[in-house]
Amino acid sequence: MAAPPPPPAARQKILCVGLVCLDIISVVEAYPAEDTDTRCVSQRWQRGGNASNSCTVLALLGAPCSFMGSLAPGHAADFVLADLRRYAVELCHVVLHPRCSFPTSVVVASASRGTRTILHANSDLPDVTARDFEKVDLSQYKWIHWEGRNASEQVKMMDRVEEHNRAQPPGRRVRTSVEVEKTREELFQLFGHGDVVFVSKDVARHLGYGSAAEALRGLRGRVRQGATLICAWGEAGADAVGPGGELVHSDAFPPDAVVDTLGAGDTFNAAVIFALSEGQSLQEAITFGCRVAGRKCGVQGYDGIV
Ligand code: FRU
Repeated sequence: MAAPPPPPAARQKILCVGLVCLDIISVVEAYPAEDTDTRCVSQRWQRGGNASNSCTVLALLGAPCSFMGSLAPGHAADFVLADLRRYAVELCHVVLHPRCSFPTSVVVASASRGTRTILHANSDLPDVTARDFEKVDLSQYKWIHWEGRNASEQVKMMDRVEEHNRAQPPGRRVRTSVEVEKTREELFQLFGHGDVVFVSKDVARHLGYGSAAEALRGLRGRVRQGATLICAWGEAGADAVGPGGELVHSDAFPPDAVVDTLGAGDTFNAAVIFALSEGQSLQEAITFGCRVAGRKCGVQGYDGIV
């Protein structure tokens, strides 16, 4: 007899694969000049990393979610684990590397200009591999999102999901998304994978595009047939091209005062994934993404975005 299907609740989960790190954030009135001594407005530790930030947002939106990424032991790891638990993010796919050091970002956040300058250090922590990903019970998830990092391994993980999906009836397929945020050439192979591809303004500009619409026109040939390509462009909002080639746009929803833009892109991605996974249209999803990302820019951290 075939195994009974998992209870509906189990398939409601969204898995995010990528980085968790420690962000040490110094909020300053104005970005300091080199070789000066500045008194900060405030300073805090915050859990960071794109996939980890997206989990925070999904959790705040009420979506059961799971984080998959690497961890190295120590005070920073204890801090981020406690914080992930605080948001009830599932941690069974975290891979511990006892001899490595934990990645950290020093972030200078300018209160007057709303910019965030990130100094990221990751000396030796390897990313999760396709081998690690084999242990994931795919039937537990309705959506899996990858933050583009070790792309060749991530392509293998996405291939595994494809293969799994081929044996499933349409309603039980795992939907997939991938973020191409950094300008490393290796990541560009990810354009050809996933149901939804998020391309950052940074990457679009690096490839010579001057707007989100231009980037979509230039890059849509790189995503697979039937995939959705989405590009957020800060204050200009976001554009997307859907499976049937339809183009949609949402304006941005800037807060009264921009106080913290760290993780705004991760927030946008999470909100879009949430909306699409709930069956909303592409137009509704990118509008929701812009709204939630806008709210995020108006608060320090993530609490208060919903
Ligand atoms: C924000 C972020 C930070 C982290 C950095 C890593 O998107 O994930 O939390 O320090 O980017 O690149």
